[in-house]
Amino acid sequence: MTDKSPVIIAIANTKGGVGKTTTAVNLAAALAAPRRKVLLVDLDSQASASLWLGVDRARLKPSSGSCLLHEFPIVQAIRATPVPHLDLLTGSVELANADVALAEVKGRELTLKNLLQRVRQRYEMIMLDCPPSLSLIGVNALVAADGLVSLLASLDTVRTRLGTKGRLLGILFTMVDPGRPAACEVRNRLRAQFRDEIFHTEIMMSRALEEAPAGARTIFDHAPRSRSAVAFRRLAGEVLERLRSTRHSKR
Ligand SMILES: Nc1ncnc2c1ncn2[C@@H]1O[C@H](COP(=O)(O)OP(=O)(O)OP(=O)(O)O)[C@@H](O)[C@H]1O
Ligand SMILES: [Mg+2]
Repeated sequence: MTDKSPVIIAIANTKGGVGKTTTAVNLAAALAAPRRKVLLVDLDSQASASLWLGVDRARLKPSSGSCLLHEFPIVQAIRATPVPHLDLLTGSVELANADVALAEVKGRELTLKNLLQRVRQRYEMIMLDCPPSLSLIGVNALVAADGLVSLLASLDTVRTRLGTKGRLLGILFTMVDPGRPAACEVRNRLRAQFRDEIFHTEIMMSRALEEAPAGARTIFDHAPRSRSAVAFRRLAGEVLERLRSTRHSKR
């Protein structure tokens, strides 16, 4: 990896509905800055991240699926978003057939990594919003990624995530509900056990986050002063800090 290459971060968890897309969209928006151009790649056939960023359901193609499966030129498929400095490669139903289609391809686990090489000069960071399964697309994401942000909304997924420790950028507690003391106890125990691996920032349950997608606005446009907006800014700071230290230790 040269210094010109973007840092690629996968937001992943094999469980559905744990806040992956919420994290991918808002973390990407928090990281996008004049000197930090960010690309969000929607790898989910449900395309929630793309719809959140205002893409019309009828206009999801060309998508990441078009590029991965049908060799559509990635540069032509990438679009601007309402968020300055944040670009998007959409998801679409094409991805639903990816496992079957990619199965025939030689070096199939590397397809995404190779694809992203073509836009490496353009971005400082690439964020991957993964589907909720360990499909071939999910494997492609993990192979392409330099760092993994793993989400934890419940205890039963801990082991899966710790298996990827070598490349783990951090574990994020999402959808935290302070009204559930038992869950709070679990989080405290995990913090004591895995300390450094868990981000200090926690994403709480919030009405603002729940409502933001319907208005096609990130949390920073929907509720800029909300606790969730502050949390995603803090998380971005933590991610940058961790990247700095892992980069140093990698070389
Ligand atoms: N912190 C939060 N507070 C309130 N609602 C949230 C929060 N995080 C996520 N949600 C809501 O929960 C649902 C699932 O979240 P999200 O789509 O981010 O999960 P996901 O892991 O990407 O799901 P999938 O596995 O289907 O891709 C969405 O309706 C989202 O708006
Ligand atoms: Mg999702």
